[in-house]
Amino acid sequence: MADFVGAVDQGTTSTRFMIFDHDGNEIARHQLEHQQILPQAGWVEHNPTEIWERTRAVIETAMNKANLVASDLAALGITNQRETTVVWNRVTGRPYYNAIVWQDTRTDRIASALDQDGRGDVIRRKAGLPPATYFSGGKIQWILENVDGVRAAAEAGDALFGNTDTWLLWQLTGGPDGGVHVTDPTNASRTMLMDLETLDWDDELLSFFGIPRRMLPAIRPSSHPELYGVTRAGGPLGGEVPLSGDLGDQQAATVGQVCFSPGEAKNTYGTGNFLLLNTGHELVRSKHGLLTTVCYQFGNEKPVYALEGSIAVTGSAVQWLRDQLGIISGAEQSEALAAQVDDNGGVYFVPAFSGLFAPYWRSDARGAIVGLSRYNNNGHVARATLESICYQSRDVVEAMRQDSGVALDVLRVDGGVTANSLCMQMQADILGVPVSKPVVSETTALGAAYAAGLAVGFWQSTDELKRNWNEARRWYPEWSDAQRSRGYSSWKKAVSRTLDWVEL
Ligand code: G3P
Repeated sequence: MADFVGAVDQGTTSTRFMIFDHDGNEIARHQLEHQQILPQAGWVEHNPTEIWERTRAVIETAMNKANLVASDLAALGITNQRETTVVWNRVTGRPYYNAIVWQDTRTDRIASALDQDGRGDVIRRKAGLPPATYFSGGKIQWILENVDGVRAAAEAGDALFGNTDTWLLWQLTGGPDGGVHVTDPTNASRTMLMDLETLDWDDELLSFFGIPRRMLPAIRPSSHPELYGVTRAGGPLGGEVPLSGDLGDQQAATVGQVCFSPGEAKNTYGTGNFLLLNTGHELVRSKHGLLTTVCYQFGNEKPVYALEGSIAVTGSAVQWLRDQLGIISGAEQSEALAAQVDDNGGVYFVPAFSGLFAPYWRSDARGAIVGLSRYNNNGHVARATLESICYQSRDVVEAMRQDSGVALDVLRVDGGVTANSLCMQMQADILGVPVSKPVVSETTALGAAYAAGLAVGFWQSTDELKRNWNEARRWYPEWSDAQRSRGYSSWKKAVSRTLDWVEL
């Protein structure tokens, strides 16, 4: 049998391909960024064709680095930025419009209208989501209403919708020449269109957005022994590899962190932060601003659900310090700059650039830096930025405790920002629980590889995967309780200043 499994991780800012061995060790990787297209305030787009070209390139380069050919891979998994919406023509393979990214807020009016006539409550009940610009449904509606010819093509079955998992699966299996049009329940659970109990598209939900069912992909298990398809000999792998794993990136990270038991949770620090708590086969309805989402479905087993706290802006706030304010030249410098001061000097930064997601769901919120005095400097702003990542995570942990009754005794973390040790120390201080990071911190790609490998028998069971998880480092809280509660109260006050913001 082949010795390795590959995984494509198609993220918000870049696409990477990683190859893992049976112990979950990384063998090779390659990663390429793609352009962030920002046509106007609140709009964020990607070019789907560029994403497919980058995907081809990262696969080819990583395979060359490892000196492997298609037959060395037992399976291939896909994981992706969720919600980001692509609509393309099945015959030409050309997208009708750029991908509308999850951060994009152009569907503000579509989302707020849903709560004015009761449709919002149906979406909450069936799809587990609060109506928001974040999810795919409104983005598909916007394309149907604003791009010439798409509605007629969708009704005729020629316009296909997919998140970037579906787009890449279609391309990898042949594109216009027989490509499969599929997704999995974790991605489908981010559209406002799928019923969480039936794991099927729901006609009533589709009618809310005027979306023809024909444009939607088939929903198949996240780990699929019957395979979504195989890669094409003419494609970037140069041969046939079973495509058998597909998960949204945050669910993939939950699998990569081996959170297979109810009560286990992970927090991923990327462009945004996403904290997922495995709730087992039970569908827990949030009363405190969390999403109910599918965590994974392996083969014909019952689906496992999660409660999720989604935070739109965390790592991207550090990028903002670099790109828009110019006070650091690289993300890693934020740690050194923040370390130049002993504390935040009274400064709190709420980076509500896309409104506020969990647990607030306020699209009217806008970012604010509060508490400034003449005494403050760049170090305080850098520190407040790192603290904002941790305070936003605390907001979500509080909501999770209230919803599930589960108080975390340790927080498992992964993602780019976890390289920032000062920030991880702050997270332990602000939460008051230890923070633990695994040796393989690329848990997103690893989770997609696990799903793909389980489907083809490369791994036999989730117990086998658990043995691959090893801790690299643990941070313990150092703040006193009084310091922690003072800081958190100030943060809540800062958040209240960002709501109802309207420029006059
Ligand atoms: O829901 C959005 C999320 O899937 C994006 O993740 O890692 O691409 O920022 P990331």
